[in-house]
Amino acid sequence: MAQDISIAVREFDTALAATTVVFVSDVLAMPAHVKSLAAAGDTLARMSGIEKFTAKAQSALTITGAANVPCEKLIVVGLGKDADLKTSDWATKMDWVTLGGVVAGKLNGGAVSVIAACGDMAFAAEHVADLSLGMQMRAYSFDKYKTKKKDGEDKAALDVSILMQDPASAKKPMKTRTAIVDGVNLARELVNEPPNILNPETFAKRASALEKLGVEIEILDEKAMKKLGMRALLAVGQGSHNESYVVIMHWKGSKDSKTQPIAFVGKGVTFDTGGISIKPAGGMEDMKGDMAGAACVTGLMHTLAARKAKVNAIGIIGIVENMPDGKAQRPGDIVTSMSGQTIEIINTDAEGRLVLADILWHMQAAHKPKFMVDLATLTGAIMVALGQEYAGLFSNNDTLSEHLTAAGKTTGERVWRMPLDPAYDKIIDSKFADVKNSGGRFGGSITAAQFLQRFVNDCPWAHLDIAGTGMAANQTETNRSWGSGWGVRLLNQMVLDHYEDK
Ligand code: BES
Ligand code: MN
Ligand code: ZN
Repeated sequence: MAQDISIAVREFDTALAATTVVFVSDVLAMPAHVKSLAAAGDTLARMSGIEKFTAKAQSALTITGAANVPCEKLIVVGLGKDADLKTSDWATKMDWVTLGGVVAGKLNGGAVSVIAACGDMAFAAEHVADLSLGMQMRAYSFDKYKTKKKDGEDKAALDVSILMQDPASAKKPMKTRTAIVDGVNLARELVNEPPNILNPETFAKRASALEKLGVEIEILDEKAMKKLGMRALLAVGQGSHNESYVVIMHWKGSKDSKTQPIAFVGKGVTFDTGGISIKPAGGMEDMKGDMAGAACVTGLMHTLAARKAKVNAIGIIGIVENMPDGKAQRPGDIVTSMSGQTIEIINTDAEGRLVLADILWHMQAAHKPKFMVDLATLTGAIMVALGQEYAGLFSNNDTLSEHLTAAGKTTGERVWRMPLDPAYDKIIDSKFADVKNSGGRFGGSITAAQFLQRFVNDCPWAHLDIAGTGMAANQTETNRSWGSGWGVRLLNQMVLDHYEDK
């Protein structure tokens, strides 16, 4: 993690650090809590005139060395025009997490004071916590393999004090946010790691580290999978020298350990060459991120355990490497999945659905969950349909879909529901087996989801195709990392909103 960041909450009257952040609704409204800053009013007015700073939400102005200012560097962050702040719900409408990202983006390092107020309006504890979440998310970058850092890449540690009303009230919400950011950053890190370092075995080891948080870990190696009949998953890994694994993570946070669990299922292809149906060379390096679904499930389990969520949740990830080899599976092969259904392999590059078929089946057979949500970088076609802004949502259940859509609106991880319809089934009916693993280009994301549905019984289920969102094309105020950690906050939010003990 590139920039170390520690955030503490303190009383308003704490002495200011050399760098101080203030929030304003318009350039002349100074925080009354810090009287000595009022003298800066003139400088502010002048500087903001030059910089055309109008305190628009999420804009910022840095002023250094101004006279009469009790700090060396003053960072003025806009909350929107004064008029916006006069509405009663301005604070709930404000995107505090993004605002935190804006703030952290302006900081270089060292001690920083952030005054959590605008004029005489003190920020609520939940909003301070969201601000700190955004700051922490912004601070992450993946540079552990860079031995030489360019200018600006080697940022000193940040030591942030948020000055607020009633700091004690922020302790608990801040702890929850730390659990969230740690889960997001774990997912990001797993996606960013190169495929020679993160292979099925080392991924399984990293997931096993969740044991420290009280997550029970169950690992299936190839021998155990053979016994269960997971031949579809095993077929994908059979061309690799790295053994395949399934990791099952149990978080038992509900007061009744027998409460029906909720389940999360992740595709974990640590590298997808396409296999014998090999991919073109250009951009193939990005296929180290073909385990973003499994990374999200692992990150989510971290978050749920770290914040001691009152829910029983199970995460299952299928971790394999898809390689061309003398032992690799061929187009034309027919494999028998754990469900008993036979699958004709048309294209060895349609491997994710083979992995998911067996772990979805195992989840239902072994744990009878209340619902399952799977995440997978499943199809290039989802990017043709939705770009990289929305993930594709496919589901057999309207309530689950609504919960996911609503949670996505809260966290900004947006999902768009796509159709499932038996009319698509004929495209994947096989001449020689029960189903084929590829239906060609038309409706590529839909036929993939339709394939998965054949391995779901009457369990409420949602499939998120995150091929576009798991690896970030867009650098945002809260994400500067290629591995985006997409989905951790979304699923955590959904659990929080609907599935925890009252
Ligand atoms: N991992 C890929 C999908 C993918 C593509 C993820 C680009 C992220 C970025 C998946 O295994 C795949 O190869 N899908 C094929 C399916 C086809 C062969 C039916 C695809 O999308 O082309
Ligand atoms: Mn593939
Ligand atoms: Zn893949």
